[in-house]
Amino acid sequence: MNNNKELIEGILELKRQKHAVILAHYYQIPEIQDLADFIGDSLALSQRAKNIESPLIAFCGVHFMAETAKILNPDKKVIVPDLNAGCSLADSCPLDRFEEFLGEYPQHTVITYINSTARIKALSDIICTSGNAVQIVESLPKDEKIIFAPDKNLGGYINQITGREMVLWDGVCQVHDLLTAEAVLKLKMQNSDALLVAHPECNRAVLEIADYIGSTNGMIKFVGQHKGKKFIVASETGIVHQMKKIAPENEFLVAPANETCSCNDCPYMKMNTLEKLYKALLTESPEIIVDQDLAEKARKPIDRMLEISKKAGLI
Ligand code: 13P
Ligand code: SF4
Repeated sequence: MNNNKELIEGILELKRQKHAVILAHYYQIPEIQDLADFIGDSLALSQRAKNIESPLIAFCGVHFMAETAKILNPDKKVIVPDLNAGCSLADSCPLDRFEEFLGEYPQHTVITYINSTARIKALSDIICTSGNAVQIVESLPKDEKIIFAPDKNLGGYINQITGREMVLWDGVCQVHDLLTAEAVLKLKMQNSDALLVAHPECNRAVLEIADYIGSTNGMIKFVGQHKGKKFIVASETGIVHQMKKIAPENEFLVAPANETCSCNDCPYMKMNTLEKLYKALLTESPEIIVDQDLAEKARKPIDRMLEISKKAGLI
């Protein structure tokens, strides 16, 4: 198969034969977003993955997302197009250093961003995503001592809006953290009628000039509520595909990282291709395997996140 049309037909046929479900994150290439059974941000994908009844889940995102799906629905086979599709945030938090860090802050509740490995989740009290971090933090008493890992930009933003002083792990997303306020401001000056929407993984300087800060779902909803407007999007490029579908009359400009580059592609998300997805469905591999004992430990803080999100009306 050498063209997209044939590959898409092949993928849909294999999906039918194997009763598979394709889940995709908004940062996937448009072709994968368009053929997925369900597309969402990290929170929506976790919720969806937990309730899937099909025997085979093809997860088009990055490793921690597929691993979370496997933890939440362990009896299903979870396959991915590329096992090497990781995440710089998850990589920034290796187990040995995290254990040492926890030892430095005894009696702290550990809130961990979903962009982390199962081993890190297993050492955490509650998981959060960018879509529920405020509600998760605010579900704890005001005087509770909290460690937040691994994204210091998201953690700093949550500290600011909740008035907490959580201890932050020093990790960043290599895609969002690279966006500079200088380059964004320059684009804003050239487009004074544009609203700036930003993901909370962006650095503080970018967040300070944003008109709206929110998760991937949050940003898509926001642009959909402002028809006929122009937006500067400080996030990964894949999100613009859904924004254009929801609000085709809007204009979208991708926030630049610097003078020469406005290519905010997550190198990991973009490892997934139609060809790799086709092969994954054909061979039912590579498969995500999580040790049962580890999965049980990691599931508790994820379930706690889902419970709080449900109570808060987020899912
Ligand atoms: P969302 O939780 O908004 O889907 O973000 C996930 C992510 O990896 C952002 O870089
Ligand atoms: Fe990880 Fe950043 Fe890619 Fe999201 S965009 S998957 S946080 S590297």
